[in-house]
Amino acid sequence: MKEAFFKYQAQTSPFPLAMEISHAKGSYIYDTNQNAYLDFVAGVSACSLGHGHPKVVKAIKDQVDKYMHVMVYGEYIQKPAVDLAKFIAQHTPEPLEQTYLVNSGTEAIEGALKLAKRATGRSEIIAAKHAYHGNTMGSMSVMGYEERKQAYRPLVPGTKLITFNNEDDLAEITNKTAAVILETIQGGAGFIEPKNGYLSKVKAKCEAVGALLILDEIQPGIGRTGKLFGFENYNCVPDIVVSGKGLGGGMPIGAFTASTALMAQLKEDPKMGHITTFGGHPVIAAAALATLKEVVETELMVETLEKERLIKRLLQHPLITEIRGKGLMLAALTPSAEITNQVILEAQNQGLIAFWLLFEPRAIRITSPLTISNTEIEAGCKILIDILNKINN
Ligand SMILES: Cc1ncc(COP(=O)(O)O)c(C=O)c1O
Repeated sequence: MKEAFFKYQAQTSPFPLAMEISHAKGSYIYDTNQNAYLDFVAGVSACSLGHGHPKVVKAIKDQVDKYMHVMVYGEYIQKPAVDLAKFIAQHTPEPLEQTYLVNSGTEAIEGALKLAKRATGRSEIIAAKHAYHGNTMGSMSVMGYEERKQAYRPLVPGTKLITFNNEDDLAEITNKTAAVILETIQGGAGFIEPKNGYLSKVKAKCEAVGALLILDEIQPGIGRTGKLFGFENYNCVPDIVVSGKGLGGGMPIGAFTASTALMAQLKEDPKMGHITTFGGHPVIAAAALATLKEVVETELMVETLEKERLIKRLLQHPLITEIRGKGLMLAALTPSAEITNQVILEAQNQGLIAFWLLFEPRAIRITSPLTISNTEIEAGCKILIDILNKINN
């Protein structure tokens, strides 16, 4: 299998971890050698309810038995998609009311950027340095990391970068700006939270010049920071919120949500301003609704903040210089990329899955399923501390 993986499956890096998966359940992933791995990563913040959550599995199976794909997005009334969009509206502040469902995070970002251009009649998009919004052309155009972009230029013109949390840069937002797009908590940059009311200041500036604020909640959203959406922690409601990853509970999804008036722009002049074959797929929508209900209707979000405190308490160590982030979106920083690499690779040898962040090589990613137990957290943190102790000696 390993040989076929390298021979036939296109690769993203020279050194994939290449663990061969047998199955996964709860907070554990099992390889084909019968080793169990405690999952501190959740498929990079995607498996909100862990692996094979019974309610998600049931929703998928029930829907598969009824119907799968029947028509392109938006033409037929398909209950799972309608129920999902309604549930999002009921749990999202005004004026965010209508949701457009797509297949991935980056596709939702594309839709949000198009909507902002269409609604304002402007083309300038402002994003943040070290931002990550996905890997298609539009999303890559607003990525704040030149090293990864340069080989693919020319990208979408009219994009500008500002520094996250730097209020002086708000002067860059003018009446030429269609939208400012920010991650509510910067992910790839190192799990950097907005400080000193930064997001509401950006929103106020956008309002003053007629620009829209798009918040990318693809990673912080769906309960991961103790609220359904991360922006609820920072007293700021965006014009467009983009979600993905954890919304699908392990299935592929993306969504962007805005006011009814804004969304109306996509349906006329020209009509079909954004279309997709599989967006709103009934099986995926059923899985997402089951996931959302579990996150909203149980104590999971409150527990997320308790788990954050537990992890921060357990991971006190001379080689951990800082723990950034909120809830179960945490990054433990070591003094160097070398130490971080050693920790992540050795953790896998010892049955713990940790991972890197895109642009902060000193960070150890801890984005476990929201359903992880305190006992599992204790076991995982002990593995990390034991490894750090060995490195320190
Ligand atoms: C903040 C953020 N935006 C967008 C994306 C892109 O989502 P997808 O990989 O589903 O296209 C990601 C994925 O890592 C992300 O973390």
